[in-house]
Amino acid sequence: MKERTGLKVTFKDVTLSYDGKKDTLKHLNFEIPDGALVSLLGPSGGGKTTTLNLISGLLPATKGQIFFGDTDVTKKDALARKVGMVFQNYALYPHLSVRDNIAFPLKMQKVKKADRYKRAEELAKLVHVDDQLDKKPGELSGGQQQRVAIARALAKSPSLLLLDEPLSNLDARLRIEMRQEIRRIQRETGVTTIFVTHDQDEALHISDHIMVLAHGSIQQFSTPTALYEAPSNLFVAKFIGEPVINTLPADALRADLVASVPASILARAVTAGVRSEAIVPFDNGQGMVATIHAGLRQTQKFGREATAELTYNGAVLLSTEMAGLPTAQTEGDFFLTKAGFFLFDEAGALIFGGDDHDQ
Ligand SMILES: Nc1ncnc2c1ncn2[C@@H]1O[C@H](COP(=O)(O)OP(=O)(O)O)[C@@H](O)[C@H]1O
Ligand SMILES: [Mg+2]
Repeated sequence: MKERTGLKVTFKDVTLSYDGKKDTLKHLNFEIPDGALVSLLGPSGGGKTTTLNLISGLLPATKGQIFFGDTDVTKKDALARKVGMVFQNYALYPHLSVRDNIAFPLKMQKVKKADRYKRAEELAKLVHVDDQLDKKPGELSGGQQQRVAIARALAKSPSLLLLDEPLSNLDARLRIEMRQEIRRIQRETGVTTIFVTHDQDEALHISDHIMVLAHGSIQQFSTPTALYEAPSNLFVAKFIGEPVINTLPADALRADLVASVPASILARAVTAGVRSEAIVPFDNGQGMVATIHAGLRQTQKFGREATAELTYNGAVLLSTEMAGLPTAQTEGDFFLTKAGFFLFDEAGALIFGGDDHDQ
């Protein structure tokens, strides 16, 4: 059901203040490409919902301009912007059938009954609830209710589909199933979709691009791979990835980095970040940044997944690559791979690492 090619969304220096004193969103500049699925990812209070409401027109920008395609929509209200919205609480009408829930926005537009039901049935098929059309929302599971909410949001063929933490009320397994469904529905319709989540795993799995938002500013806006392999700052490095990246004072490693890091960079390095898969027991010849002599404690073995704690110059580093070492081994020479090794300056900006990444 490809209905439209989607719509590019551009923010030019957009600022939002709720109280006229403090800026909740500061100078946002971005472009969301046509037909993409973009996640807004960040901690609670970071400004995700506020950004979504600026896109939908529910909130007016305090400063700056917003474009849909080439059209300046800054002064247009939510109705004129024609966006479809899905919220965490499905917000379906409990007394209406699934068919009538999906058709409801068309009824408001005075579309003829036969036409709006035809459309509702097409959309029900798209979101896989076509066998539930006569039921009431209360008879559906949470995942099915959210499918209906998505179908309803698509009823008017919106210019954009906006979803604000739509999976937060679902249990873990359903969340995984539904995130794949959102990806599929987005591909099938081609509608530009903006998906809000605080769950990095969710964002990494479904998005073409991820905007990391924290403290009202964009920390990084790039592909999932780029966020992981080339985080632009310490915040992103720590927010993206499971297990959380190891961090330690650059001083602890300085002597071991002299041969591989230019002196001018090393002089500015304050924090080192090392992904758990970047600490390996053997030099595999794929570009090592340092050799460290460290204490070793192999901690857990859940099935095949072994983790180990290395103690090194007062730091404790987690490695996921030590499976196969003798369990009795308590120290040794270990290697840090260039991929997954980063240095950050005093402000937290990336100053070393991430450069082998293909943008
Ligand atoms: N209506 C409002 N009035 C005043 N402050 C608000 C309002 N809505 C949100 N905020 C504040 O704006 C900041 C960003 O909130 P929000 O956009 O909801 O973040 P997120 O969706 O990322 O959790 C928070 O500090 C929040 O308390
Ligand atoms: Mg929110």
